[in-house]
Amino acid sequence: SPKATAQIGVTGLAVMGSNLARNFARHGHTVALHNRTYAKTEALVAEHGHEGDFFPAESAEDFVAALQKPRRIVIMVKAGDATDAVIDEFAALLDEGDVLIDGGNAHFADTRRREKALRDKGIHFVGTGISGGEEGALHGPSIMPGGSEESYKSLGPLLESIAAKAPDGTPCCTHIGPDGAGHFVKMVHNGIEYADMQLIAEAYDLLRHVAGYEPQRIAETFRTWNTGRLDSYLIEITAEVLAHTDAATGRPFVDVVADGAEQKGTGRWTVQTALDLGIPVSGIAEAVFARSVSGHADLRGAARELPGPAREPLAPAEAGEFASLVEEALYASKVVSYAQGWNMITAASAEYGWDIDLGAVAAIWRGGCIIRAAFLDRIRAAFAADPQLPTLLADKGFAAEVGKAQDAWRSVVATAVGRGVPTPGFSAALAYYDALRAERLPAALTQGQRDFFGAHTYRRTDREGSFHTLWGGDR
Ligand code: ATR
Repeated sequence: SPKATAQIGVTGLAVMGSNLARNFARHGHTVALHNRTYAKTEALVAEHGHEGDFFPAESAEDFVAALQKPRRIVIMVKAGDATDAVIDEFAALLDEGDVLIDGGNAHFADTRRREKALRDKGIHFVGTGISGGEEGALHGPSIMPGGSEESYKSLGPLLESIAAKAPDGTPCCTHIGPDGAGHFVKMVHNGIEYADMQLIAEAYDLLRHVAGYEPQRIAETFRTWNTGRLDSYLIEITAEVLAHTDAATGRPFVDVVADGAEQKGTGRWTVQTALDLGIPVSGIAEAVFARSVSGHADLRGAARELPGPAREPLAPAEAGEFASLVEEALYASKVVSYAQGWNMITAASAEYGWDIDLGAVAAIWRGGCIIRAAFLDRIRAAFAADPQLPTLLADKGFAAEVGKAQDAWRSVVATAVGRGVPTPGFSAALAYYDALRAERLPAALTQGQRDFFGAHTYRRTDREGSFHTLWGGDR
């Protein structure tokens, strides 16, 4: 049997697993390789063997025997039943103190269940969020490991070596918290990503149909925004997509793409989980629903003839001013969706006893992941200044910016409504902002109704206790 020389093993060598294995090897680690179908392992070594020190193993036993102790195995198989099957296979071969890492997109509840089962056997199970897609896996992802503190001692340095580096040089990887914390935070990352993409899409729609800009012009506008506070990967690639011309037709690429968006499910998980936790994430929810609406050809077809305002663009003289208002609305809405995402992390951290460092989450999203942005350093700083910050909107800096943007934000939403351009993200974010700042909410009336029809009782503004009114009628 082979000498135990590998620092890390990767099992599951589809694109993500292969790229992660290559990334480890390129950073000087000896990497044991394993895949259910050995041909994939051989293909990887044939193509990329020269990039570093690989140990291809055909059997799970040889793979495990090739690893230094404590053994560290990254599982990169299809999320779901395959993950459970692979965990069972390896758990039987591992010893106490070994570390089994799930780098797939698992639901945090599954991770909690798996972690508990393996903990009982003395094996560290580390559910790890990995963001950045195939490119990130190869060149430096943002890595969000959960699991025990102890597992991070042996695993952390390896992960940090292959992680993206933030602009200040720090690795985009930190121990998030126990059991499912890593996968939870990855889920919220994806929810925020949905919201960011939706807000950008709404900004595009407004620039196209209200400002009357062509895609090339909108690409230029996004490029300009990308030099300011909106500087981010998503704004950057948006400009590229909008500037792209379809080779077959010569038309703007965006005009030949079918307008039904797809989703893999992490956005949906975020919203489902937020409902369970009782945290309003309206910005993220609207983004998930907007994709859903776009995909309903049946509903859209049935409603196509409903009346609404004609989409006349503004006069060119007004378009530039409107575009700058859209930048403000986009920024303010973005702050809201991030604020909501962080509220979710705060709530889950309390619920599950994870003790998540809220600023550290922002810090490791500064590089490698899809929502990487200059903006995240501001969030890191906001939580560094006040770890108990109840909402990002209460941070002095963000409060001042959003306060300054609110007139523009209202004007953009009002214009959109008046002109029949749907802006669910901008509108929901603004409604949330106004709800938080309202002195009185109509929830008082809701409580009255609940007491009327269901004797649910209510609390009063002027006295302690719970009250029920004997309503008239024969209810
Ligand atoms: P792809 O990404 O290539 O479409 P996939 O079906 O998502 O493939 O599977 C990704 C990885 O999970 C592959 O390495 C796959 O192993 P094979 O190459 O042998 O197909 C692995 N995988 C899927 N189901 C598995 C299972 N039940 N047990 C072990 N590995 C599994």
